[in-house]
Amino acid sequence: MNDRTLFEKAVHDNAFRVLISKEELRERIRELGRQITADYRGKEPIMIGVLNGSFVFIADLVRAIELDLEIDFLKISSYGNELTSSGRVQMLKDINADIEGRHVLIVEDIVDTGLSIKFLEEKLSALKPASLKFVTLLIKREIAKVDFDIDYVGFEIPNEFVIGYGLDHKQILRNLPAIYVMD
Ligand code: PRP
Repeated sequence: MNDRTLFEKAVHDNAFRVLISKEELRERIRELGRQITADYRGKEPIMIGVLNGSFVFIADLVRAIELDLEIDFLKISSYGNELTSSGRVQMLKDINADIEGRHVLIVEDIVDTGLSIKFLEEKLSALKPASLKFVTLLIKREIAKVDFDIDYVGFEIPNEFVIGYGLDHKQILRNLPAIYVMD
């Protein structure tokens, strides 16, 4: 048993509680895709995934959107390998695209304290996009301090440490197919 990987423990041994199942993720992402398709009809948005956490979500989300769209990525870091936010946000990789005059959608896996998304709002709105909206799969509403609208939210979750579907524990377990709570 002790030589089992954390992945096996999560998926086969029920070692962690499932918070959001594969099926719930699939269904909600389908709805978000339909909504974004309707809201951006006639436009060609650029979707910017925030690495690393959003890579699984954005991959599924863009395939649920029936529009011509572009994809780019940026990378920031506030957590490092810690379980709680350090309070500092750093840009580790900037976008390549010129977003002036473009319809921009920032895609996050989770809004926790809200620091990252606030940093991105300030940074990207200064580049004069035609519009700037935010998509997040998860939000911890009770602790997130965000003074602007988050336009598309997958699920509101309690203040617990979540892993899987892009979210890591010490950089692993991002490949878990559902969202689990790690106590
Ligand atoms: C996570 C997550 C968000 C941010 C949210 O990133 O992907 O970008 O934290 O937290 P906040 O609302 O408190 O700012 P992290 O820095 O852990 O990097 P990762 O995506 O590479 O795991």
